[in-house]
Amino acid sequence: MNDASKLQVTLPITPDTSAAVASSAMVREGEAAAGPDIKVAARNVDVFYGDKQAIKDVSVDIPERSVTAFIGPSGCGKSTFLRCINRMNDTIDGCRVTGEITLDGLDIHDPSLDVVELRARVGMVFQKPNPFPKSIYENVAYGPRIHGLARGRPELDEIVESSLRKAGLFEEVKDRLDGPGTGLSGGQQQRLCIARAIAVSPEVILMDEPCSALDPIATAKVEELIDELKANYAIIIVTHSMQQAARVSQQTAFFHLGVLAEIGSTQEIFTNPKDKRTQDYITGRFG
Ligand SMILES: Nc1ncnc2c1ncn2[C@@H]1O[C@H](COP(=O)(O)OP(=O)(O)OP(=O)(O)O)[C@@H](O)[C@H]1O
Ligand SMILES: [Mg+2]
Repeated sequence: MNDASKLQVTLPITPDTSAAVASSAMVREGEAAAGPDIKVAARNVDVFYGDKQAIKDVSVDIPERSVTAFIGPSGCGKSTFLRCINRMNDTIDGCRVTGEITLDGLDIHDPSLDVVELRARVGMVFQKPNPFPKSIYENVAYGPRIHGLARGRPELDEIVESSLRKAGLFEEVKDRLDGPGTGLSGGQQQRLCIARAIAVSPEVILMDEPCSALDPIATAKVEELIDELKANYAIIIVTHSMQQAARVSQQTAFFHLGVLAEIGSTQEIFTNPKDKRTQDYITGRFG
């Protein structure tokens, strides 16, 4: 289905969006035959900052080898919910999470679970590229080293190179691996952070507005990369760009005032949303 006119379009979508929706629909048709495996499942998740509830009764399934977009107006709880999945909210004073979240069916709040290991399995890329004040090489080598993933320097070199290649950065930096990570351009820094995240072989990658500080060319590179990475990982991307959500994701979740107002295939959400709040948001009536 690559003829956008065949889609049941009830909303004005840009040619850009409709092409992206059509292509993600093709991917989904192939996947539907096998049926998606669920990588992360959240059930009845509530999050409180002190007395204030930021997430209300959210249940969601995140499929394996697929991209899920979280969209919704500023302050609706996208980042808060994203941080539940690798227990980053544990690091925020006064933040309390209830409900159940499983990774491959195992409870991530189980007391026997090692949080450091969880965060290696569930990597995160932030809005603002945040390389360590170290060399490009060390930025990528740090994780594999602390997790004991390499037996010696040659193996570590290999992990660094392959992670930089997967992040589409190796060719640009191969002659300056000892140079500072912070000396790269913003787009390169973000790809360095993605290389750092994938160097520890995560299973899930959480991306919180990874392109919001990037120009269109760097954004296109990161989107291409997300498209390639989804062959091996479950990816969640928070974005304020409807075009980006339509281009890169197969499933879209719309948050509103702390609740998950609607979730469905990206094609459905952008062409035939069931909830009026979703419709208003994606057509730019609020948010
Ligand atoms: N550390 C914190 N302490 C107290 N309240 C917080 C904290 N972080 C977020 N909140 C509140 O929780 C709610 C959800 O915030 P969150 O950052 O998750 O929204 P968001 O959807 O990611 O917004 P944006 O699109 O602007 O990034 C907001 O009301 C916010 O003020
Ligand atoms: Mg946010």
